[in-house]
Amino acid sequence: LFAGTADFVSAAPSLGSLPPMRGVEIAFAGRSNVGKSSLVNALTGRNTLARTSHTPGRTQQLNFFDINGRFTLVDMPGYGFAAVEKAKVAAWTELIHAYLRGRANLARVYMLIDGRHGLKTIDTDVLDGLDKAAVSYQIVLTKGDELKKSEVSARIRGVEAALARRPAAYPEVLLTSSRDARGIAELRASIARLVAE
Ligand code: GTP
Ligand code: MG
Repeated sequence: LFAGTADFVSAAPSLGSLPPMRGVEIAFAGRSNVGKSSLVNALTGRNTLARTSHTPGRTQQLNFFDINGRFTLVDMPGYGFAAVEKAKVAAWTELIHAYLRGRANLARVYMLIDGRHGLKTIDTDVLDGLDKAAVSYQIVLTKGDELKKSEVSARIRGVEAALARRPAAYPEVLLTSSRDARGIAELRASIARLVAE
């Protein structure tokens, strides 16, 4: 599914500028700096497809990528980044929520959570919104290379336990790293199953 071309389609700074819906769409959402854009690059094997940065707030629009003509991958701006103007944060938050609630061809949201920190209140607020809107989501823990071996299973189990009563949550939690590629094959397989449905 990923062996082929991955092309930037467009960037949408607002709901009014979303590209037309075409086939299955999946989105990467999560806090600023959690590693969304890096994961887009790791999945596609294209290091510079999505722009990444050490400083949070790098991705400021919804970025749409066509993967092999088979589905669309959406790299979202991060939420929860306080160091930019309040008005900007409010505008992003509104865009993120409106997109997540209202996109009919959005098959699943991959909710990226920093593996070192687990779920924060700001994440569970977004999950509440997805559950309410019945938008299916799966948790992907990022930066797995930063976790000690001994911490991994407890972190995964802790997040899985927190999902147990969430109606729109896919029960399996994946641990990934864009640095050492762990979990990337599993994430590709998860996406491939969705696209094949
Ligand atoms: P915004 O667009 O600002 O919301 O951020 P983002 O979620 O797209 O994060 P981005 O991919 O730009 O990465 C943020 C920082 O995390 C960069 O310094 C990356 O090098 C680092 N990073 C991303 N993935 C990993 C990973 O798997 N392991 C480690 N150790 N660092 C990572
Ligand atoms: Mg980004």
